[in-house]
Amino acid sequence: MSEQAANKGGLEGVVVADVTTSLVDGVNGKLIYSGYDIEDLAANALFEEVVFLLWHVRLPNAQELEELRAKIASEASVPPQIIDMLKALPKDANPMAVLRTAVSALAHYDPDSENLTDKAVAQEKAARLTGQITTISAAWDRLRKGEEPIAPKAEYNLAQNFVYMLSGEEPDKTAVDAVNAYLVLLAEHGMNASTFCSRVVTATGSDMHSAVVGAIATLKGPSHGGANAEAMRMFLEIGEVENVEPWFKTNIKEGNRRIMGIGHRVYKATDPRAAILRDRSKALAESSGNSKWFEIADKLAELARADEYFIERKLYPNVDYYSAIMLYTLKLDVDMFVPLFAMSRIAGWSANIIDQMAGRLIRPKANYIGPKDLKWEPADQR
Ligand code: ACO
Repeated sequence: MSEQAANKGGLEGVVVADVTTSLVDGVNGKLIYSGYDIEDLAANALFEEVVFLLWHVRLPNAQELEELRAKIASEASVPPQIIDMLKALPKDANPMAVLRTAVSALAHYDPDSENLTDKAVAQEKAARLTGQITTISAAWDRLRKGEEPIAPKAEYNLAQNFVYMLSGEEPDKTAVDAVNAYLVLLAEHGMNASTFCSRVVTATGSDMHSAVVGAIATLKGPSHGGANAEAMRMFLEIGEVENVEPWFKTNIKEGNRRIMGIGHRVYKATDPRAAILRDRSKALAESSGNSKWFEIADKLAELARADEYFIERKLYPNVDYYSAIMLYTLKLDVDMFVPLFAMSRIAGWSANIIDQMAGRLIRPKANYIGPKDLKWEPADQR
């Protein structure tokens, strides 16, 4: 049996780096960022504190936190050429495709984009990208609705700026708290597919913008970050709580569809982020006066939890399942859920990219299973 067949493909269980950023304990359903439990961080941390933690393997003091917050906010603007480029794109473009294009273009205007070796310069670039990804995401949401983009405010934190740049209004505290908690929860997660991609690009000696473009492209897929939007589309398709059981029977038990937002390569217990997001989405839904989508999601999760197929395969809600409800309750457009994921995960990507700058080329091997010993024949004789 080939090594590929032996590990079921998909590099399952293969270790590719020593990291200080996060520990994903899939057996016990625990997640730690640089020593701190995710529950503790989700309840207390500002996203910028988590960014500092991932970059420096320690929490910032008050002055360091304010410096980083101010740096991210003051450098979050994007050059006018990027806004002009966004205006030229088709209004129905996928926001993740737009983000991918815009981050690629940003490299042309970043004075340090081709500085490939200096770690301090890399952190400056990462701080810029952290703010700019949020600015681009909010700008795109406005532009496609025929509205002018709004520039970020230097006195805001990232969650405040996102809410402000979407609406142009003073950011509402409930929305800011929910967005901040989401940003904290999604910031980093072991050797997930997009982080791995960013490391592969970096390991060739290529630049940070290229690595982030690769990561955005990878996150876009419905098996990874794209699952939060797909989960919400599934809840909308179900439509009413009384439809959950017949939908489950037709589409999952008798059909061949997957429940989006359920299952994980590493977690064979409850994803701790899903537990936190369940509580938050429930509270938010109740305070908004519309619990229907939460109830649909919860009922579907309950059916899966009691079903032999899901029990045998240890399939539980992942981070994308209840976050879809939370973001929908905040009235975010469904296709904007994935850029919000990128706005958060840039923290983990950049920490991994900076770490990988000192690392070795990532170059696995392939197991050849094609034909051998064939003899060349000219085209007119084949
Ligand atoms: N619904 C129904 N069955 C499922 C689901 C699901 N959501 N997920 C996995 N399965 C089944 C598979 O059909 C397979 O069954 P089999 O053994 O009979 O063939 C078994 O569980 C294992 O599935 P794999 O695809 O081999 O598991 P893998 O670790 O490669 O995939 C993944 C993990 C992609 C997350 C998968 O569970 C899935 O597609 N989930 C839905 C999409 C999703 O939520 N993605 C977000 C993941 S979290 C993140 O990236 C942020």
